[in-house]
Amino acid sequence: MGSDVGVPALVNKFVMLGMAGISLVVAAMCQIPRVKAVQANSSPPTFYKDVLPILQDRCQSCHRSGASGPMPLVTYEQSRPWAKKIAAAVQMKIMPPWFADPRFGHFANDPSLSTDQIATLTAWADAGAPSGDPVEVPTHFTEDKWVQMVEVKPSSAAHVHHAVVYIRPPDSPWLRHAPVGEAFTASMLKDPEERQQAHETTSDLLLVYAPGSAPDRWADGIAKFVPAGSDLVLQMHYTTDGEAASDETSVGLVFAKTPPKQRVITLQLNNHALVIPPGADDFRVEVQGTLPNEATLLSLFPHMHLRGKRFEYDIVHDDGSVEPLLRVNYHFHWQLSYKLAEPRSLKAGTKLRAVAWYDNSKNNPHNPDPEKTVTWGDQTSQEMMVGFFDVAVPAGMDKWNFFVRHSEPADVKR
Ligand code: HEC
Repeated sequence: MGSDVGVPALVNKFVMLGMAGISLVVAAMCQIPRVKAVQANSSPPTFYKDVLPILQDRCQSCHRSGASGPMPLVTYEQSRPWAKKIAAAVQMKIMPPWFADPRFGHFANDPSLSTDQIATLTAWADAGAPSGDPVEVPTHFTEDKWVQMVEVKPSSAAHVHHAVVYIRPPDSPWLRHAPVGEAFTASMLKDPEERQQAHETTSDLLLVYAPGSAPDRWADGIAKFVPAGSDLVLQMHYTTDGEAASDETSVGLVFAKTPPKQRVITLQLNNHALVIPPGADDFRVEVQGTLPNEATLLSLFPHMHLRGKRFEYDIVHDDGSVEPLLRVNYHFHWQLSYKLAEPRSLKAGTKLRAVAWYDNSKNNPHNPDPEKTVTWGDQTSQEMMVGFFDVAVPAGMDKWNFFVRHSEPADVKR
């Protein structure tokens, strides 16, 4: 991953919104058996030539300082002591993490290593983790108001339950009286209407950060639009471990070099009306929506809390048949965006469906309280059912225009 860019001059204001959450339980990795790889080649792989490119491509998004991984795997000195554990983790396919059922869909950001890559890391560890000669990795970027890549990086990742970065365009009235440049909570706002606004907005999202999530990057010709004069509003949900702590979350942006043809907008299918009975171990919640205009589906990002169990996205065709887009065995600590390897064009009027399952039984080790009826809420002990998805639309269209429905689009066949 390239270097971070500070919050640029373009983003002249910065609002933070804090909310208390509950403690996060970090899953421990269990001991795993080792498999010896057979190396046909006589000279063993070296760090700089063979291993580093794999780490850069598949591991460093999390394994570097400040990211979610427990140790950085950036330099030779940092990686060498972990060689054996790296080999074991990749052989067991625990790392890099990926939870989508491989039978459904093909995802461009599927980080799974090839057999050759696993063999390389294993042979490197078995040979005593030789360094070889260093190589250079150039990074460069240019500025514009089209954002090609974005990353959210908390300084205290252990305390960030999630962070959502919203783009507030200059003409938006949303949270206009909230303090700028400092953290606030909904209860600190005087106006009851603004207090309510702290919990909901129609502003477009720049990025959602959650445990396990990676920076977002769009293909050439596709970017997120941040109008001049916009503010970035950061919604931070913090979680406590009993100790006082401070966090300075930074947002890194890389701008597109040329104006793109398409812009990315983030939409969501959500069901606020969920009521999960106590003890239910496979409780189903569904929501359907119709796409008001044609768009190209780029990625899917399911969001639930600790009782989340499975999540799926489908297209429901006119004849009633269901086409699965994604099936995820949900894990709260690994909220990933699943990027379609081949973006899928969707016609206006396409019916999309999201279905979530929840485990509110005592058999769910993450369940804070199996006795409780669970409803929608910000707190981790409450639940959410949100199917975020990114679509690409023509560069000149914004989220508002997108929701203007044109009667009877010519391309919808009856
Ligand atoms: C999406 C983020 C992410 C990516 C990508 C990722 N890791 Fe990890 N890794 C973690 C986290 C977080 C842990 C801590 C254990 C856990 O919570 O499962 C971890 C744990 C590990 C461990 C075990 C550390 C220990 O204490 O024993 C190893 C080894 C490891 N990762 C290697 C890798 C390698 C090698 C890659 C790339 C091939 C990789 N990881 C990719 C996030 C990631």
